[in-house]
Amino acid sequence: MGITEASAPAKVILCGEHAVVYGCPAIALPLGNLRAYASVRDGPPGGPMRFRATNLHREWDVGSSATEPLGELALATMRYLGRDPTSLVITLSSDIPIASGMGSGAAIATALVRALTTHMGRALSPQEISALVYTSEQRYHGTPSGIDNTVVAYETPIYFQRSTPPRPGTSPLSSSANIIPLPVPDDEPLNLVIGDTGKHVPTHEPVNDLRRRYQESPQLYDIIFHYITALVKEAGDNIHCRYHEGLGALLDRNHYLLQELHLSSPELDTLVLAARKAGALGAKLSGAGWGGIMVALVRADGSDRVAKALLDAGAVQVYLASTAPPAR
Ligand code: PMV
Repeated sequence: MGITEASAPAKVILCGEHAVVYGCPAIALPLGNLRAYASVRDGPPGGPMRFRATNLHREWDVGSSATEPLGELALATMRYLGRDPTSLVITLSSDIPIASGMGSGAAIATALVRALTTHMGRALSPQEISALVYTSEQRYHGTPSGIDNTVVAYETPIYFQRSTPPRPGTSPLSSSANIIPLPVPDDEPLNLVIGDTGKHVPTHEPVNDLRRRYQESPQLYDIIFHYITALVKEAGDNIHCRYHEGLGALLDRNHYLLQELHLSSPELDTLVLAARKAGALGAKLSGAGWGGIMVALVRADGSDRVAKALLDAGAVQVYLASTAPPAR
């Protein structure tokens, strides 16, 4: 067999991050034009599984055991398929910035599982791929909600809510979540501008810090999570009804509540304010916070102005995204 290639998208959380870890709903969108890539080909007979990560200029071999998440994921995928590890060359690359809140880990893992399973002649469902990827997300984050692997593997806008809180080490295949596809009307797509602060923050740091504070005074945080739950539900309705002004106001409110949770940073607040001043309908931090990215909802003709304002305010990179189907 020749080379099998696959890819997977970046993602952005529109609202509800962090609260989603505590069982509240959140909305996330795939970013189809920003992707991670994997290719798989047979290696020399009797050889190991050889990984090549081109962005990182790294190569490593995986035999019958692995100690790093991607090797473990490849072995878990082979086990799931009922296959022994075999000689393969697996090449990984990505256009997605790492540790920035755009789901680069989930995208690389999803591209790997897609390419590997296809190379082995099997087509897995998004649910199966998402469950396998959740295992490697657990290695990075400890207690991920599962929203990243879900939106990346399903590759569609989703309204996501866990029915049980995640616990370290729980089987991904037994973890339950309510995943509702959230179609965005094609005639009124969501137009987003994403600004990167350039400050890399591993997701588990703000997540663990919030958990420590939550355990000290759960009632206080439950009130904020209650407000976030209400605004996420309303945001889902606003998307459905094409009421983008209302959606923008909810994103602003979500940012304020994330500030209250001590998850913003001066860099994020500066970009959020710059986007609003440049005419965004709403703006907020997105993902884990303390750094990484913010997202602004803009009118169809507002992207360039907001993108320029973000760059002027210190964003190291901006990305334009839209839920509109790609032009043919
Ligand atoms: O990995 P990030 O930065 O996109 O953050 C994930 C979103 C959180 O809600 C903060 C964590 C989670 O597991 O849902």
